[in-house]
Amino acid sequence: MQTTISKLAASLASLPTHFKLASGDLIPSIALGLYQSPPNEAVDAIKVALKTGYRHFDTAWVYGNEAALGKAIRESDVPRSEIWVTTKLWNTFHAPADVEPIFNESLKNLGLDYVDLYLMHWPVAHKRGAYGRTDQELSENPYPTWQAMERLVESGKAKNIGVCNFNIRRLEKLMSHPLKVRPAINQVEMHFWNPQPEIVTWGQANDVVIQAWGPLSGSVGRHWLDKALNAPEIKETAEELGMTPGQVIISWHIQRGTVVLPKSVTPSRIIENFQVARLPDAAFERIEQAASAHPRVRLFDPSHSWGLDVFEEGTYQKR
Ligand SMILES: NC(=O)c1ccc[n+]([C@@H]2O[C@H](COP(=O)([O-])OP(=O)(O)OC[C@H]3O[C@@H](n4cnc5c(N)ncnc54)[C@H](OP(=O)(O)O)[C@@H]3O)[C@@H](O)[C@H]2O)c1
Repeated sequence: MQTTISKLAASLASLPTHFKLASGDLIPSIALGLYQSPPNEAVDAIKVALKTGYRHFDTAWVYGNEAALGKAIRESDVPRSEIWVTTKLWNTFHAPADVEPIFNESLKNLGLDYVDLYLMHWPVAHKRGAYGRTDQELSENPYPTWQAMERLVESGKAKNIGVCNFNIRRLEKLMSHPLKVRPAINQVEMHFWNPQPEIVTWGQANDVVIQAWGPLSGSVGRHWLDKALNAPEIKETAEELGMTPGQVIISWHIQRGTVVLPKSVTPSRIIENFQVARLPDAAFERIEQAASAHPRVRLFDPSHSWGLDVFEEGTYQKR
């Protein structure tokens, strides 16, 4: 194992460690995802990650572990200025007057005076006090919410802002407004079963960096994750290169030009997932083609329960 790690470490430099955002800021290409990380386990996981070299953490108000992230950062010896912190605006707070107060609550939870990135968690506005009742108008036109987020950038409390789970139509519509701050990021479900090359290409053409959530296909249990780790294209590439299947998948994401957010609370996996390497072109192409060849599977689509067609992709196969 030691040989494998050193072999990989030797080629680490050949995958980008950062991507450049429209603001000019450099975002680390790999983050520790924190969805479904219980706060008590998250603190230790983040400390292991910081020791391993991770400098990017992806949380959200709704994950309930912002305070754990802040605590782990404070208890580490890594300066705040070297760490990239992302958190997200939950659906119930899209009314413009609600944005700054809930953002301040996130800052308080984190114990920080700024975040590096603040994301609109979904293109869906829920009416206050009525979870699940969707405000169709504000969801279809989130520009007023975006303007409230722009004011956070103006105040210096959010260095960058962006969105999650936007399809191209929704993003183009938002960007057709006279924005003061462009969306730096679109964070979307993206993995071997749902590779969305059209969003990757669109992001590159429009200077919006794409982040892959659920990159191991592990958001909804182990079924699709195990299937991905055992897919012949992944498994054989891993065997050929002396990598693990997880490392191959995470490397593939970065090589596509997307920021990757693997989640783990298991120390050995946190360390494993950070050992990425550039795949030979033939292996990369093989995985890229295999990912696009099978019917696409979307692991999480809340359209039905939220009463709004979030992705507008009738041709996709739901899981
Ligand atoms: N914006 C959004 O709407 C949205 C939605 C979902 C997720 N996200 C973000 O994206 C991050 C990642 O997504 P995700 O957590 O849903 O899914 P994921 O990273 O694809 O999968 C996480 C699962 O994979 C397991 N795992 C991690 N590394 C592994 C490895 N090397 N080999 C085998 N299993 C491994 C983890 O187990 P252990 O923890 O037990 O090790 C966990 O069960 C989230 O944490 C969150 O930050 C954003």
